[in-house]
Amino acid sequence: MRIPIFTAASLALAVLPCLAVPSYYVSRDNGCEHQVKESITPPHGWTKYAAAPPYHTITLRIALSQPHFSTLEQHLAEISDPDHPRYGAHLSAEEVDALAAPHSDSIRLVDEWLAGHGLKDSDIARSSSKDSLSFTVPVKLAEQMLDTEYNVWRHDDDEYILRTTRYSLPAKLHAHIELVQPTTIFARWKGLKSHLFYEDVEVQTKTLASPLMNVNNFNVVGGGILPAGRVDPNCNYTITLNCLRQMYNIEYTPQAIDQQRIGITGYLEQFANIEDLQSFYKMQRPDALGSDFEYFSVAGGINNQSIEAAGTEANLDVQYAFGLAHPIPGVYWSTAGRPPFQADIATVRNTNEPYQEWLDYMSSFPNPPAVISTSYGDAEQTVPRSYAVNVCRGFAKLTARGVSLIFASGDGGVGDGNPDPETQKCISNDGRNATRFSPLFPATCPYVTAVGGTNSYPEVAVYFSGGGFSNYFPRPAYQSQAVNQFLGKLGNTYQGLYNRFGRAIPDVAAQGRHYAIHSRGKWASIGGTSAAAPVFAAVISLINDARLAQGKSVLGFLNPALYKSAIPGLNDITEGNNPGCGTNGFSATDGWDPVTGLGTPDFLKLKDIYTNMP
Ligand SMILES: *[C@@H]1O[C@H](CO)[C@@H](O)[C@H](O)[C@H]1NC(C)=O
Ligand SMILES: *[C@@H]1O[C@H](CO)[C@@H](O)[C@H](O)[C@H]1NC(C)=O
Ligand SMILES: *[C@@H]1O[C@H](CO)[C@@H](O)[C@H](O)[C@H]1NC(C)=O
Repeated sequence: MRIPIFTAASLALAVLPCLAVPSYYVSRDNGCEHQVKESITPPHGWTKYAAAPPYHTITLRIALSQPHFSTLEQHLAEISDPDHPRYGAHLSAEEVDALAAPHSDSIRLVDEWLAGHGLKDSDIARSSSKDSLSFTVPVKLAEQMLDTEYNVWRHDDDEYILRTTRYSLPAKLHAHIELVQPTTIFARWKGLKSHLFYEDVEVQTKTLASPLMNVNNFNVVGGGILPAGRVDPNCNYTITLNCLRQMYNIEYTPQAIDQQRIGITGYLEQFANIEDLQSFYKMQRPDALGSDFEYFSVAGGINNQSIEAAGTEANLDVQYAFGLAHPIPGVYWSTAGRPPFQADIATVRNTNEPYQEWLDYMSSFPNPPAVISTSYGDAEQTVPRSYAVNVCRGFAKLTARGVSLIFASGDGGVGDGNPDPETQKCISNDGRNATRFSPLFPATCPYVTAVGGTNSYPEVAVYFSGGGFSNYFPRPAYQSQAVNQFLGKLGNTYQGLYNRFGRAIPDVAAQGRHYAIHSRGKWASIGGTSAAAPVFAAVISLINDARLAQGKSVLGFLNPALYKSAIPGLNDITEGNNPGCGTNGFSATDGWDPVTGLGTPDFLKLKDIYTNMP
């Protein structure tokens, strides 16, 4: 199964290790001369601020080329297609590692290069398939290795990071290394604040002057499913577990609860508070009182259980995902890292590329939860294409093991970037300063399921629902028919503002406003596609349970079957639009649209569809 991608010429170049001497000492044809690997224009809003403090240390991560990745993609296409005989035959971690492994020449050459710069094997951390390695060096050494210059860059919002806009590698390493980061990433993942709307004061005082009273009015304690099609009128203003159960027909008692788990990822010092969870359960899910979830710290992620310290995002995700899926066990990962750069701190371990950190950790995580929901992201254009592609491959590796990865589609409508504060235009960073819609990454990765938002009942698209078309990832076959139908209706509208051939998001949707959560000791109302993602994840977790109870596999990579078979189990949302970038955005319409995707879940129908699949 070895796929030879290395030409005779590149192997001939690979004979001698490159020494850590300036390039003018070595001859031009031994492959040691640095050549530019990547060069970018920083996104709107960033300016060079100061030279990098030379003794500051930086943790570099190198991703090696994966010559067998297309084979892994082929496996994934088969095991996620309900009409294929291998549907549901998920791969083991060992099989995935073998398919993700780099060529042995790549490992050897890169090791020689690192050794030439004084790095010992014990200084280097490696992922289980050895396709990713990381090590910490002074900035000065990183600059030599990459023939570059790091600077402190400042964002208009007074945020600082250490980056470069261009880096180089010895020529003979180019075919072996996909990327080195952090170099050219200007993402601000902590843009999560834009993914979490504290409802405005007016709404709060009108409908939530006494959120507790409101919650009580729902009869959340005794409640449950109203007669078919009936939804409590209060669900127009406050979303509770019972509202979701009524709207989405979630009437089910899990039966295979020891056979799978549901996971939530947290980044940027987010973790959930157990006491708040208990207060939430007490009011909304009394049968879950006293239940907890497993906590894992990734690379030093924290878990301070002081009630003022927990993150609202984490509390929201945990309360709704675990509250709906109970008693299916929950898992929470907190990945370390506080991106804003502080020049006075000598060591900044995390370097604002949390996904690779988490993915490396997951590559050797045994028996991962069958569904994992993530509510973090940033504009696709703030990460280089090479990084987006590499991280997306990491997600593909995890989905190949049978994990459904669910991501929030963003809260900026068609403009999930940093629109110019004056003109509201979304400006491309391809050097042309063109106006361009700005979708959210990782939602645009074709191996994850992107969830948009709705509000009210009957449901309409919520105005901030992130949607649009990737500028990096081509449209995957599984959605081409559904998306082409939409594009046919759209005609020439917005021509030039989006990539007609791109991966389109969202795939599905769920309620995105007015969630009653318990956080920092009190009830609060919160919204965002951040809320929609864990809700959809919980629905999938319950469907997995129904399949496991039949002795079938969990669903794994969802999208091919969603577009092929699940459409009758989704409520098509046909009203509303997602303005952004100074436009009205796209409009929800019959069938798939870039506002609410294929629609919101109808659990009972989906359960029928999926339990009738092989
Ligand atoms: C929500 O409000 C709309 C518009 O006022 C109304 O038509 C609908 O019946 C309300 N929903 C419920 C569940 O009462
Ligand atoms: C936990 O958070 C609280 C409130 O922010 C803070 O006062 C306390 O020092 C933190 N504890 C630890 C161990 O970090
Ligand atoms: C794009 O905008 C940047 C920052 O405002 C400016 O420096 C640059 O000259 C512009 N480029 C073009 C092609 O207009």
